[in-house]
Amino acid sequence: MSYILLTGGAGYIGSHTALELLNAGFKVLSFDNFSNSSDAALKRVEQLSGEPVVSIKGDIRDEAALRQLFSDYNISAVVHFAGLKAVGESTQIPLHYYDNNVAGTVTLCRIMRESGVKKLVFSSSATVYGDAKQVPIPETSPRSATNPYGQSKLMIEHILEDLVQAEPDWGITLLRYFNPVGAHDSGRIGEDPNGIPNNLMPFISQVAVGKREKLSVFGADYPTHDGTGVRDYIHVVDLARGHVKALQYLQQHNGIEAINLGTGTGYSVLDMVNAFSRVNNIAVPYQIAPRRPGDIATCYAEPGKAEKLLGWQAEKTLDDMVRDSWRWQSANPNGYKS
Ligand code: NAD
Ligand code: UD1
Repeated sequence: MSYILLTGGAGYIGSHTALELLNAGFKVLSFDNFSNSSDAALKRVEQLSGEPVVSIKGDIRDEAALRQLFSDYNISAVVHFAGLKAVGESTQIPLHYYDNNVAGTVTLCRIMRESGVKKLVFSSSATVYGDAKQVPIPETSPRSATNPYGQSKLMIEHILEDLVQAEPDWGITLLRYFNPVGAHDSGRIGEDPNGIPNNLMPFISQVAVGKREKLSVFGADYPTHDGTGVRDYIHVVDLARGHVKALQYLQQHNGIEAINLGTGTGYSVLDMVNAFSRVNNIAVPYQIAPRRPGDIATCYAEPGKAEKLLGWQAEKTLDDMVRDSWRWQSANPNGYKS
């Protein structure tokens, strides 16, 4: 039987997807340089599933290592998570982001092509919509980027579109994630950010567990129902299941499709804080702070295409998201080092 290769498989979304793929009967091979993760997550995935995960340490920019990988294992499709994702950092070290994300993807595709593997699921992001004029955001919305991280995702989308244009026997899905949050309901795997979290949910969890004093709510004067920013938070297990559906879709289809993975519902920062406190019965102290540069007021998905093409829709609720985030954080206050 062949393997599904997960680049960046030890990361937050990769590890949850590995588990859902194993549960669905796929064999999983991870290739990760552990620049933002550790092998511990995949060890826990093995414990949870009772199935082996082949974990290889390596970098997607290393052509020789990739060539060896494709020759050592029978790989039928690739889910490409590997990449750097911190927006602020990307403005400080743009060359590193373009090299890792864009050059890495080109190298990966070149070796896939050489090996005759032409099925690819790519981790794109709602960031490619920039400040969208209309919400909910359909896949046809114009694309733009305001920082090197977003640019790298947009460039990769264009590269993959050009590739399919030139070689129509490729099958590629560009999965545009909205805001992944939560953790597996076992509390054994979850998000383990390095240093101070940039994103809202890990920050709330770290305040709740006492690692940070209080949350700064970035702006309370947006044109939203309570003045704070509105996003489409999606449970990471729902997101992971979207990848299983995308791979099943690619077994039958060639060509390229961009597909939103979101719930279609927007929640504000204060909605998230209040849900977290209510469901977990724990205080989350916060203060209103100035807007974060580059932030937009409102962003949520039009999720209909995923349902139509993949037969997928998000099933988990806001309460599931905040409960599972807290279960993971409270059981692993120092992430995988706990
Ligand atoms: P993550 O950092 O937890 O996972 C990425 C993994 O890729 C890490 O394990 C890291 O060690 C690995 N990696 C990075 N560069 C590599 C390289 N050159 N070679 C091999 N491995 C490498 O991040 P995540 O949240 O799981 O995100 C996965 C993907 O989804 C990323 O491409 C990210 O840009 C994209 N995405 C994430 C979000 C989000 O909010 N988490 C939203 C939209 C899109
Ligand atoms: C961020 C990224 C975006 C990426 C997305 C999903 C930035 C500028 N953008 O967007 O590229 O695609 O994550 O991973 O980083 N907030 C606070 N206090 C905090 C943290 C966040 O109030 O300490 C607010 C933000 O202002 C925003 C909301 O919470 O309104 C969500 O923030 P975040 O989790 O960083 O996600 P995005 O801003 O959607």
